[in-house]
This record gives sequence, structure tokens and C-alpha cells, in this order.
Amino acid sequence: MKDNISQIDIEGLKAALAKFEPSKTYYIVDSTVFDNYAGELGLDSVTNVFRLNSPEADKNLERYNECINTFIDMDIRRDCHVVAIGGGATSDFAGFVAASVLRGLKWSVVPTSLLSMVDACIGGKVGLNVEQGKNLIGAFHEPEMIYLCTHFLQSLPKPEYESGLGEIIKYAFLSTEINKLVKKEAPIEEVIFNCLKYKKKITDGDLREEGDRKILNFGHTLGHAFEKELSLPHGTAVTLGIYHTIKSFHHDLLSELYSLMDILKLDRNLLYTRPKNEESFWQFVRRDKKIVGDEVHFVTLKSLGHAQVSPMVIDNLVEQIVF
Ligand SMILES: NC(=O)c1ccc[n+]([C@@H]2O[C@H](COP(=O)([O-])OP(=O)(O)OC[C@H]3O[C@@H](n4cnc5c(N)ncnc54)[C@H](O)[C@@H]3O)[C@@H](O)[C@H]2O)c1
Repeated sequence: MKDNISQIDIEGLKAALAKFEPSKTYYIVDSTVFDNYAGELGLDSVTNVFRLNSPEADKNLERYNECINTFIDMDIRRDCHVVAIGGGATSDFAGFVAASVLRGLKWSVVPTSLLSMVDACIGGKVGLNVEQGKNLIGAFHEPEMIYLCTHFLQSLPKPEYESGLGEIIKYAFLSTEINKLVKKEAPIEEVIFNCLKYKKKITDGDLREEGDRKILNFGHTLGHAFEKELSLPHGTAVTLGIYHTIKSFHHDLLSELYSLMDILKLDRNLLYTRPKNEESFWQFVRRDKKIVGDEVHFVTLKSLGHAQVSPMVIDNLVEQIVF
């Protein structure tokens, strides 16, 4: 397993970034993060920067086009390095730029949201949204380095932090080791690092999601539909997806979910959230890009820490899930 995760403080990160040759480094940054931290990171005067003011809305072909034109005008070459600094939308965008410009450049990532630290920054899935749906254009392109610096969490808005906790809950069901860490209220840095290591182990063995990687979609089939139908942050919608999966298939694990939410200080009232319109909710499930024919590869648990993926006819899923 390639050791490319560097746990680092902000001073260490500043020193690591200073080692990149300025003329050969192209930054793609979340504007909010850049405004808050460029000084601390010693990046005030860098010129090869493309900023995303509203990263999720900017994760599209128009901004991609602007970015590659800007970098090509700046004379970007095959031996240059792209560095992403921001949340998951920024790293998806930057990774796709790196995967495609000049047929592919090396890139590294500094995740700054909790969700990107535990999930989005690793595994090599990069891409853009199009009008018809999220992440419908993309590539697999793994970063060279991931700089994990939890200092950034201090400025992360609470709803975004809570979204990241949704993915941590997912890992706490998939891995008994992570479950134990959350239960003993281990420092968040330790929990994040272990989530990242867990995802890395799975994705290193199945980059293209042909096997084991599918278990990382636990809670996501229903979660994606909640995300779209109710415009919720990704990880918050995943928490709801996990809740409805557990309620319908593993009633015995409901108390486990409640206890994880309590420990992570997530308000359990979230679980009363219902789709606005059930018909449109299931339409979103049916349009999921992972659907094959009328079946979805649905992730359930054999037991805590042991996930399984089974093909499930969507009509049967509709019958099983009661909101
Ligand atoms: N590639 C993958 O494997 C993968 C996995 C999960 C999610 N994703 C993608 O990640 C995105 C969601 O990630 P996200 O939740 O990080 O969203 P995001 O990148 O849109 O960030 C969420 C918000 O937090 C702000 N932000 C980020 N870091 C901050 C900081 N330190 N201080 C203050 N504000 C900060 C951003 O400006 C933004 O407003 C989606 O586009 C999703 O498709 C990708």
C-alpha cells in the first residue's frame, strides 16, 4: 500500500507546500479557504491559482474550460503539479483537471472539510457535474500526496462539519475498529486518520469499484436520493440513508446508530426527516448511475463491521422502506 497520507500541522503544511517549485505548481483552491489561510500557508503571492468561489456550483464544464484555458495560457507543462486545497467539490474538480490537462498531470490534495478529509480526498474518483446529474463526467486519477491537516476544521461551518460526521457513522458501521474509536471518543484526528486508512485499503484493492469498493456505498443509494430531493449536504443525507437501511433491514442495530449519533453530538431529530414527495424520491433512486436494469447493488450488513452487497430489484426496495 503506497504510503501517501501525511498527517501534518499547519506549519508543516506550509513547509511542505514551500518545497513545490513555484513555476511548476498550479493551485486550484476553494476561495473561502484561500481567503482564510493563504497567509498562514505562505501562498499570498502565488500566481498560478484558479479559485472556486462556490465549489459545488463551479464543479461544471464551463468552469473546467476556464481553468484549463487559464493554465494553458500560463504555460502549464507535463512536469507540473496540480495542488487542490478545499473540500470535496474542489478536489473532484482539481483532480479532473489534473487527470485530463495535457493527458494527465500529477496532483496532490489538501482536504479542508471533514467530509473531504474522511472520504472525498482519497480513492481517485474525480469529476464534474452536468445538468442531468452529479459526477456524470469523471476519471479515476489518484493523488500523489494527501496532506491531512485538521487545523482547517476550525473555520468549517457546523452543517458542513455535521455532514462529515455522516460519513464517519458509515465507517463506524463498516469497521469495528473505527466503531471502537468513535465509542471511546478518541480525538477526531485519530478517527479521521483511521477512516482515511480504511478507505485507502479498500480502494487500493479495487480502484474501479468492481468488487469490495461497493461496500463504501452503504447508506448512499437512499442517501443520494435524500440529497437531491431535499437539497441536503451529502453526509447528512447519507446519515438518513443509513437510518432507513438499518430501520428496514437491521432493526437490531438501531440503538447502535442512536448511540453513535449521541456520541458525535448529531441531533437525532434529523431522523424524522421524510421525503417531500415519495414518488420523486424513488425517481431519484431509479436514476442513480449505479442502477443496472431494474436492480441496484444495495449494501446491507451481515453484522456490525461486515457489509454485503446484494442486487435488489428496486420495486422490492420500495416495498421494504417505510418512511
Ligand atoms: N471523489 C470522491 O470519492 C467523493 C466522495 C464523497 C464526496 N465527493 C464530492 O465531494 C463534494 C462534497 O464535499 P464537501 O462536503 O467537502 O463539499 P464542498 O467542497 O462544497 O465544501 C462544502 C462547503 O464548505 C466550505 N469549506 C470547505 N472547507 C472549509 C474550511 N476549512 N473552512 C470554511 N469553509 C470551508 C466550502 O467553501 C463549501 O462552501 C461533492 O461534490 C461530492 O460529490 C467526492
